[in-house]
This record gives sequence, structure tokens and C-alpha cells, in this order.
Amino acid sequence: MSNDTGQDLNGLQKKWLEAVASTGSVEALEQVRVDALGKKGEISALMKVLGTLAPEQRKDFGARLNVLRDEVAGAIDARKSGLANAALNARLARETLDLTLPARPEYEGRIHPITQTIDEIVAIFGEMGFSVAEGPDIEDDFHNFTALNIPADHPARQMQDTFYLPQRDDGSQMVLRTHTSPVQIRTMLKGDLPIRVICPGRTYRVDSDMTHSPMFHQVEGLVIDTHTNMGHLKGCLQDFVRAFFGIDNLPVRFRPSYFPFTEPSAEVDIGCDRSGGELKLGGDKDGNARNWLEILGSGMVHPNVLKNCGIDPSKYQGFAFGMGIERIAMLKYGIPDLRTFYESDLRWLRHYGFVPLDIPTMVGGLTR
Ligand code: DAH
Repeated sequence: MSNDTGQDLNGLQKKWLEAVASTGSVEALEQVRVDALGKKGEISALMKVLGTLAPEQRKDFGARLNVLRDEVAGAIDARKSGLANAALNARLARETLDLTLPARPEYEGRIHPITQTIDEIVAIFGEMGFSVAEGPDIEDDFHNFTALNIPADHPARQMQDTFYLPQRDDGSQMVLRTHTSPVQIRTMLKGDLPIRVICPGRTYRVDSDMTHSPMFHQVEGLVIDTHTNMGHLKGCLQDFVRAFFGIDNLPVRFRPSYFPFTEPSAEVDIGCDRSGGELKLGGDKDGNARNWLEILGSGMVHPNVLKNCGIDPSKYQGFAFGMGIERIAMLKYGIPDLRTFYESDLRWLRHYGFVPLDIPTMVGGLTR
């Protein structure tokens, strides 16, 4: 319907309601609002015309224009919430949770076999009531040698090729510890008895070939109490190797040996089978070993060592042991070459490494 202002308000109503209805986004709707009701919008422009009309025309036209403006504004509001709802629904549909996905992302990193093996050793001895003790990598002569009953002229000093640090003003020389045994000394010197500790850590020797690395790892064990004997040593180490290798009837043999810091001393062998050119740990079905493999050194702590640490050997005795961590890790996990432990080859680590949450415990299990 046209009127004397020359405006077809019904036509405008149809045009703008259709424009509102056809918008597909909040942005397009806003543009429609600006074009119709904004400062320079088409409907706003008509409001300005009102003032130029004769009073009787103004009343009627003004009323209809108000209705038109309110109608278009109402349509815009309704469309706006419609579009917002549609956007929300689309987002909800897009962001559904896939409950079949794994709970955590796949881990990229791996735990190095040395770390894993130490964690396993700690888990087993932890269960037996041992705690972990640590000492420095750079040691003095007393802790690394003398207190362990290896005096300066003792031939046992040549058993271990030592890295010496530069001589100090007083003529003394620090060393990179050649074994973890000095941590025994440090623990005993603290004087808290009884003692039941293991000491895992880095050790150093001047040696480098297929089967020796200048840096390697050992774990030391020390038990000091008032009634400790060789039977305790045997039971403890037998339980350890069987738990570590996960073979209940693994044959274990104690062979007389010599270490300056123990008396008597024994090397510990485990049963294996080398027939067929392949190394298999364990005995036959009756628990008998075909071949033997040496894996650690041990013994009753020498009375001189106890005395050097201020412990009375007539009241206290104890046993100690030490083993190479790379060696038992290689045996357990079938790692053929020692040098690969330190090459930082990611492909090797992905193959031989462990998933971070696979934390070894006696209840959760040790072997993969
Ligand atoms: N310290 C010895 C080594 O490095 C290993 C060892 C043997 C440690 C016998 C001990 C022990 O505590 O009792 O070869």
C-alpha cells in the first residue's frame, strides 16, 4: 500500500523481513540491521522524513513506521538467537567426545634400559627392606681404596684402572670412583646401625672396547647387623636374581673368590644354556644348569673395613655385594652390544626403551 509520502511500507516490510530471514550468519544479519535500522539505514531515513509531513499525515505514517521498525527489529532479534543456537548446535555436534580414543596420548619418550634396570633392582631390594644410598662420582683415595682394605701398595689397585684427577697442592689426587663400594664406606661412617642399603650409580675405569665402557653402572649392596652371616647373603642374592630374571628355579652358584674388602668372598653365577649357539638363562626341567654365567661379586664385610669405619667387628658383621648394571640389563633384555647404551640412537631407544608409566614394582611385575 502506497501513501502520500510515496512510500510502500508493506513492500518495505516484505523486503526487510525476507532479508532477515535469508541471512545465514550473525555477520550477515548485522549488515541487514545496519542497512535497515542503522543511522543511514533505509527505515531510519524514513523517520527523518516524518518531520517534513503535515501533522495529520505524520500521526498515521509515524504510527505505521514505528510498527514496521519494531517488526523488523523483532525479526532481527529472533533471527539472531536462531543463528546463535544453530552455531552452538553445530559446535556441539562437531566437538563430540570419542570415548573409544585412548585415555592419554601415545608417549613419544622412552625410559633408557639402564634407568629401567635400576628401577627394577630398587623395587626388588626395596621389598626386602633395603633403602637407596648415594655417593659422589669424584672420590678421594680413602673412600675408593684405603678404607676398603686396599692400601697404597696393594696389588688390587692394579685390578682397576683408575682415572686420576690432577694432583692437588698437598700431593693428593681425587679419582673417578672405580666402583660403587665407596658408598658402603660413607654409609658405615654415618654410624646409623643396623644398615641395609643398595647404592646404584655411575663408575669409571680406563677401559674401552666391545665389552668395556669407560663409564658404566654398578649397584652395591650392604647389610650390617649383629647376627648377619653367609646364609643371609646367599638367600638374599638368590632371591634377587630369581626375581630380577623372572625365573623361579634359576640355578644359583656361589663360587669362592677374592676381594680385599670381603672375607670370605664369593662370586655368584647363574645357570644358563649355551648349546645351539644361543644363550638361554635358566636350568633344565630339574633345575640343573648346563653352563654358568658370572654376574656379581659378594662376601662378608672384612673386619678391617668395619674397623676403618668405626664399627666393632666383634659386635657387628655384614655382607656386601656389587654388580654391573649393563651386564645384567644385556642378559635380561637381550641387548648384544654394550656400546649401544651410550650412542643416544633414538631407533635403539625406541626398540629397547620402556614406556614411562611401566614403573617396575613387585606387585605390578618386572618383566615385559
Ligand atoms: N667392587 C667390586 C668391583 O667393582 C664388586 C664387589 C665385589 C663389591 C664384592 C662388593 C663385594 O661389595 O662384596 O669389582
